[in-house]
Amino acid sequence: MDDERGSALLTDDIAVAVRTLRAGGLVAIPTETVYGLGADAENPGAIARVYAAKGRPTDHPLIVHLADAAAIDDGWSRDIPSWARLLAATCWPGPLTLVLRRGPRAGDHVTGGQLTVGLRVPAHPVAHAVLVAFGGGVAAPSANRFGRVSPTDAQHVLDELADVLEPGRDVVLLGGESRVGVESTIVDCTGPAPRLLRPGGIGVEEIEAVTGIDVVAADAAVRAPGTLAAHYAPSAEVVLVARDDDVRGRARVAPGPVALLAPAGVPTPDDVIRLASPTDSAEYARCLYAALREADDAGIRTVLAVPPSDHAPLAAAVLDRLRRAATGSAR
Ligand code: TXA
Ligand code: MG
Repeated sequence: MDDERGSALLTDDIAVAVRTLRAGGLVAIPTETVYGLGADAENPGAIARVYAAKGRPTDHPLIVHLADAAAIDDGWSRDIPSWARLLAATCWPGPLTLVLRRGPRAGDHVTGGQLTVGLRVPAHPVAHAVLVAFGGGVAAPSANRFGRVSPTDAQHVLDELADVLEPGRDVVLLGGESRVGVESTIVDCTGPAPRLLRPGGIGVEEIEAVTGIDVVAADAAVRAPGTLAAHYAPSAEVVLVARDDDVRGRARVAPGPVALLAPAGVPTPDDVIRLASPTDSAEYARCLYAALREADDAGIRTVLAVPPSDHAPLAAAVLDRLRRAATGSAR
């Protein structure tokens, strides 16, 4: 990445971001989950540039971000079940995406031609300020190349996309490190019961407590690239290792250089680079993607990953992303 181009894209000015959205430009936006590559959800030309920048197939739908829960009735969705409204009222702003029947403002260009739309009200103050000032919906996939690791700070966005964003036309908004660190929980609300399409910061137990309905597992028919087996992948090969496995033995036979990502308390074998030692799944989620990027920057060939050992909601999300990184790595 060329540094001058990077600094020409960076801004912390909300008004500049809003002007950019109105002009059909792209705005990389910090959210509490990961950074998104945003565009005016009602501008098909701007949305086409989002797909092109990511290299993402256009039949994969985008999440539309809104300023508050009341906006879902503003032409974005219809036939909303009462339990989905409860989820919106309880979990928004926050790391939850609801898939609902689409309203007239959610065109084919954001839904990949499906009759449903993914909606989310993010909790990050910068994202919130942009959405309030903009007034409309901002469609934003994670701000990474298709299939790669999501960015959790502005520098990651530049590392991924500086070559394809145009200074003067697009911007990258500064917002610090994402607090959650993995993408939102996605719940399909178009059937009789909530269906989990992607685990994230809001856990199944919380969804069941709020709705009073048992969550059902997703089938394979829904087009959600985050649910493709090979996704969220670094260049290094990611190998999942159970906590009670022989980490040292695995490190000895793995192609080097070898790195270890494991909860605190798991010792680092000799000649292995320790990427992080999170004390719980929330900290694991926060450092996961930065650790995978660091492994690639350091030329690591094998990342041994020991999943979190607690049962908090983010443990399931971290395990899900590690499994997909393991399937999709070394390409
Ligand atoms: O935390 C997040 O969700 C981040 C931030 C930026 O909000 N966004 C994000 O977007 O992860 P993306 O595009 O990388 O992943 C969104 C996932 C995709 O797997 C997409 O297929 C799925 O949401 N999705 C969006 N609309 C959908 C729909 N109508 N039906 C089923 N899946 C949908
Ligand atoms: Mg993504």
